Amino acid sequence: MIIVVTGGAGFIGSNLLQSLVPRFPEHHFVNVDKLGYAANLQSLAEIENAPNYTFEQGDIADRTAVESLFERHAPDAVIHLAAESHVDRSIVDPGSFIQSNVVGTFNLLDVCRNAWVTGNHVFHHVSTDEVFGSLGADGAFHEETRYDPSSPYSASKAGSDHLVRAYHRTFGLPIKITNCSNNYGPRQFPEKLIPLMILNAVERKPLPIYGRGANVRDWLYVGDHCDAIWEVFTRGRLGETYVIGGRAELDNLTVVRSICRIVAEETGAPTDELEALVRFVADRPGHDLRYAIDPSHIEAELGWRPRETFEAGLRKTVRWYLDNGTWVDGVRTGAYREWIARNYDRRT
Ligand code: NAD
Ligand code: DAU
Repeated sequence: MIIVVTGGAGFIGSNLLQSLVPRFPEHHFVNVDKLGYAANLQSLAEIENAPNYTFEQGDIADRTAVESLFERHAPDAVIHLAAESHVDRSIVDPGSFIQSNVVGTFNLLDVCRNAWVTGNHVFHHVSTDEVFGSLGADGAFHEETRYDPSSPYSASKAGSDHLVRAYHRTFGLPIKITNCSNNYGPRQFPEKLIPLMILNAVERKPLPIYGRGANVRDWLYVGDHCDAIWEVFTRGRLGETYVIGGRAELDNLTVVRSICRIVAEETGAPTDELEALVRFVADRPGHDLRYAIDPSHIEAELGWRPRETFEAGLRKTVRWYLDNGTWVDGVRTGAYREWIARNYDRRT
């Protein structure tokens, strides 16, 4: 099978390809990524010469580029991860989110519709639990939760989910959708909470927590998410949605304190010295209070379960950032430093 993976040079995509390419030599994986700021080809170094792997630089918002890709590779299936993914950037520059997440998804769907007239195909759309908006103190998101996105990012992902479902209902396109909670793990761009806090703690820089740190996220180790994607892609039902989560709800302050403790244990620094770096800063506008997933559907139908505990997954993640200084130096470019100044200077 020829499988196009979009956004394969980003955090989840690179972890997915690192896991699938060596395990499934019978499939050919074509990674299509525009190499935006969050992409990193260093994350794919171990598989770049594999005979069943091809990298194609391309922008899914460019219809001609998508058509040409399909003409050259004639893929049987698509696992669609390419997106602008950072909520804070969507508040500063919403337009790029509409281009990649809405227009890009539309282009892929429309080209698939024209190309896949016969045969067995799958379009697997990787989406987020943020499309459901915010929970209060109780309850959890499930497959029937109504859409209620808060940020330009989540609204653009909601738009893409609706397009995917519409292409299934109207044109019979063979689709699957997964909506996952917050991922963490190796190779995540250090604009997101966990890698940012790890690197700041290691370097004794302030640890900026939005509001009072009471917002809750349901954390999932990226390897567990990748396993879930493969289970749904290979065994999930066509037209079906699966929500995915780690059953690991934690508030942000608890997450940051755990990072301080583990960084202290792994580097020999005193924990209280790292915890003293915490700063409460201006909140994110429209900040969703709480996300939690009820993953009973994927558990019951496909037997998937998260394997990593938050404690073990976080320790592996801290070790990965400590052991991969070259990767870290490579991503902290001038553009990265500009983003950090732009996002945090106005909050403090
Ligand atoms: P990321 O920002 O690390 O990577 C996204 C990748 O997509 C980058 O390599 C980027 O270059 C590429 N890309 C962006 N726009 C593109 C375009 N127009 N054409 C081609 N490539 C483009 O994001 P991630 O965390 O790996 O997320 C991957 C997917 O998973 C996204 O769709 C995101 O919405 C979804 N998701 C992420 C999480 C999470 O916690 N990170 C949770 C649930 C769902
Ligand atoms: O829920 C899934 C989503 O998780 C994905 O769809 C998104 O692509 C991904 O970025 C993530 O979104 P969040 O906004 O939840 O992740 P982020 O790491 O940006 O923030 C996690 C929490 O930490 C959130 O409540 C905001 C807070 N935060 C974040 C940063 C960057 C801080 O308190 N300080 C920070 O500096």
